[in-house]
Amino acid sequence: MPILLQSGRMQWVEALKLSCVALVMFWACPASSMDVLVPQQINALNGTKIKIPCSFTSCYKLDTSKFAMNWTYQETSNSTEEMFMTYKNKITPLKSSRFGDRVVFTGNLEKNDLSITILDVQLTDEGIYNCYVRNPPDRILGHGAIQFFVLTELPPPRDSTIAVAIGASVGGILALLILSMVVVKCIRRHKNQELISDEQKMEEEGKVDGEGGTEEATKQP
Ligand SMILES: *[C@@H]1O[C@H](CO)[C@@H](O)[C@H](O)[C@H]1NC(C)=O
Ligand SMILES: *[C@@H]1O[C@H](CO)[C@@H](O)[C@H](O)[C@H]1NC(C)=O
Ligand SMILES: *[C@@H]1O[C@H](CO)[C@@H](O)[C@H](O)[C@H]1NC(C)=O
Repeated sequence: MPILLQSGRMQWVEALKLSCVALVMFWACPASSMDVLVPQQINALNGTKIKIPCSFTSCYKLDTSKFAMNWTYQETSNSTEEMFMTYKNKITPLKSSRFGDRVVFTGNLEKNDLSITILDVQLTDEGIYNCYVRNPPDRILGHGAIQFFVLTELPPPRDSTIAVAIGASVGGILALLILSMVVVKCIRRHKNQELISDEQKMEEEGKVDGEGGTEEATKQP
């Protein structure tokens, strides 16, 4: 019986250890080791300047001699991509009739931040902005696409409910996963204990029933 109890506890400890390891691995190095983080959509007023954010997470520190990045523009999802910024040992804006000097790098390579800023936004800037990243030895080509809309009047106030909802649901799912593991383990443990107490009961009953018989049998070798 003590063995059963102990194994129940060991399972429990094991489950806890495993979920901790899984959690640490998840944070330190997600399954697809590179992730590009971009907003899905950005709106800007014409004539203003707007930052188009792009950053990435990687298991490896950015190595400036191997790192590669491209920013491209597309009018629609099936038009050809025009590259307007790249990385060749350093951030290099490319000659572009669309943007001229109106696009500048405002990221920070130290922080894996590849954001750009468009100055004096024009109606013709509307379209899709693609952020491509390669961070060897990560072999994945990271890609983020941002739909950019140019407005001629102030939009109604937007809130960040969606971002909050996404964040909350990701956290919630993780918490649920861990909780369900814990619950399952607890139920198993409970069952084990019930089994044990049933056994105990049966044994006690047995003792009562066979009074004298078993005890005397054990007393006399
Ligand atoms: C924005 O675009 C509208 C429509 O083309 C134009 O009337 C307005 O002057 C523009 N504003 C700026 C600041 O360029
Ligand atoms: C950037 O573009 C160049 C030229 O098209 C291509 O050779 C390179 O692989 C691209 N790099 C990334 C990270 O997309
Ligand atoms: C481009 O894509 C749009 C939908 O996104 C479609 O209606 C259109 O026919 C496509 N054009 C070409 C040339 O493929």
